[in-house]
Amino acid sequence: LYPPSKGGAGGGVIAKDALGNNVLKADWIKTQGKGARKLVQGLKGDATYLIVNDAGDDLESYGLNAVCTHLGCVVPWNAAEKKFKCPCHGSQYDKTGKVVRGPAPLSLALAHVEEGGSGEVLLKTWTETDFRTNLAPWWK
Ligand code: FES
Repeated sequence: LYPPSKGGAGGGVIAKDALGNNVLKADWIKTQGKGARKLVQGLKGDATYLIVNDAGDDLESYGLNAVCTHLGCVVPWNAAEKKFKCPCHGSQYDKTGKVVRGPAPLSLALAHVEEGGSGEVLLKTWTETDFRTNLAPWWK
């Protein structure tokens, strides 16, 4: 009885760039380049990393919530070291957002990344097993 939400079954939100514009997948890949991890505004308005694959021809099917699982700082990507390193208390996450050094207790939250009918990037809640840990998602 409810109309389908924009983006089809499962809903989700359109990723927005720093100016609030819809992120278009093809443009984003071309602009950011291979291996790029750059922030967009995602689910619940949270800063979320989109990941261009190493071949530079697609986005990874998962994005990473940039909020540190320790006390909530936004974690920058360090391209030289291929890690996310939190400036607040030194936590580190690998290139998939898996925690590799505390005090952060948990890996960065995942979101599904999909392409909408107009080429826009859609982010959807990740409710399945966390492929990095084989555990149920802590962020659900
Ligand atoms: Fe990131 Fe404390 S908030 S290490």
